[in-house]
Amino acid sequence: MELHVADHPLIRHKVTVLRNKETPSPTFRQLVDELVTLLAYEATREVRVEPHTVQTPLTSATGTRIADPAPIIVPILRAGLGMLDGMTRLIPSAEVGFLGLKRDEETLEAITYANRLPDDLTGRQVFLIDPMLATGGSLIMAIEYVLQRGATDVTCVCLLAAPEGIEKVQEAVGERADVKVVVAQVDEKLNEQGYIVPGLGDAGDRLYGVIGD
Ligand code: PRP
Ligand code: URA
Repeated sequence: MELHVADHPLIRHKVTVLRNKETPSPTFRQLVDELVTLLAYEATREVRVEPHTVQTPLTSATGTRIADPAPIIVPILRAGLGMLDGMTRLIPSAEVGFLGLKRDEETLEAITYANRLPDDLTGRQVFLIDPMLATGGSLIMAIEYVLQRGATDVTCVCLLAAPEGIEKVQEAVGERADVKVVVAQVDEKLNEQGYIVPGLGDAGDRLYGVIGD
């Protein structure tokens, strides 16, 4: 697994506003969207392209276009939904699959409540999006789902990660596939409740409000 920590002053600035508990949901949503656009630049650096020729007003020019089959973007619900528009804006031809995972706040294990992934992901580039990589349980489960379906090229885009979670993902993935994690910042640690410290709190709640179980 390859880890890439995006280091850019605009990213640092926007993450700081996200962390602020006084930042209201509408601003939080807007910032998540802006951050995805900045991270996607790095995350899509190796997106597969193929030669493509167009006619300019003067002559023909050979450039590139996103290769077929199109990449698939998979937001991990709920919080990953906040990153979806930013990704599809950059890769409009991408398809979208959905994974609904909910962390059990007692055991900290991820529970699947929705799975709308294609059965066959052979040859597809997969982008998993979720703002938070805490214990790593949710991301590992999502990676397993796509590897089981034949994906071999997986890029995970996260905003904040805990060192403990990154290590878990690294152990779980090993050398099995080409997995890259692109993250805005790596925080200090997890607390006893499995929250990222200093973190930004519960990303799903901050995006969409608190809902019961
Ligand atoms: C959050 C977050 C990740 C997960 C990270 O989702 O969006 O999916 O926790 O924690 P982990 O690395 O320890 O698995 P949550 O389960 O709270 O669901 P939500 O997005 O619906 O709020
Ligand atoms: N999920 C979140 O939304 N925040 C954390 O800090 C950990 C898991």
